[in-house]
Amino acid sequence: MKWCIIMPDHNDSLSAATWQPLLATRYMGRGDALVLAEATSTNTLLKEMALRGAVAGSLCLCETQTAGKGRLGRSWHSPAGQGLWLSVLLRPRLKPEQAPLVTLCAAMAMEQAVREVTGLDTRIKWPNDLVLQGKKLCGILLEIGFGAEGIDYIIVGTGLNVRRGAYPAELAHQATSIEDHRTPPPRRKLLVHYLAALEDIITRLENEGFPALAKAYRARSCTLGSQVHVSGSVDFTGVAEAIDETGALLVRDETGELRRVLAGDVSVRGVMGYV
Ligand code: BTN
Repeated sequence: MKWCIIMPDHNDSLSAATWQPLLATRYMGRGDALVLAEATSTNTLLKEMALRGAVAGSLCLCETQTAGKGRLGRSWHSPAGQGLWLSVLLRPRLKPEQAPLVTLCAAMAMEQAVREVTGLDTRIKWPNDLVLQGKKLCGILLEIGFGAEGIDYIIVGTGLNVRRGAYPAELAHQATSIEDHRTPPPRRKLLVHYLAALEDIITRLENEGFPALAKAYRARSCTLGSQVHVSGSVDFTGVAEAIDETGALLVRDETGELRRVLAGDVSVRGVMGYV
């Protein structure tokens, strides 16, 4: 029997001292920073911090999650050192009905960060999956709290698959990682680029609204202009044409009617196993 000793990669530390000096942001990443070897869920821990008054730009990240949360009540596989398991706290100046737009902005920010750092040609599958050559590279989960004044907090949780061990082998047909395509960069570099892009994009959303971002979103989208299948409370196929001012997807169905899709599963032809 041969022994394989897996050494931790010390060049890939996420301790605050390795990335805070690299920040070029006004507030993103500059509030409280909870960096843990192990967390239940970074979203859950950051939500507790938000409820205790943590400022916008605070974050929680960890090496591994024991109860990582995915969309639609699913769990999120988060093995140690294999990904960027991160949650960022926002308190944006937006109307409650604009909150879903933040998920599109977070996907834009992560797409930009991955492209800037790795050169990989990633795409956004509406509303918030990052895909690379048809497979999922990153998932995003928003948790939103409303108060009497409107939006109180938004927790933006991102699970970026950096190393091959990030996703279970049985998901290899629909999941991918940066390491499947090139040597992975240090995660702190991805983190710093993501925080800068997120601050920039959210500020534009607050000041100018989604129309100012729509062209850039469309350029990186693999959904807009594609044949899609919508399932859930409704079931139909059509062509995704646009995103409206609330973040809903507008799909032209086979009868020519333009239908508004708010949630539900949208499969895109050629992406994540849909043919
Ligand atoms: C999805 O299902 O696509 C969303 C996955 C989101 C996973 C991330 S990992 C960091 C943060 N903490 C969680 O518990 N979930 C998100």
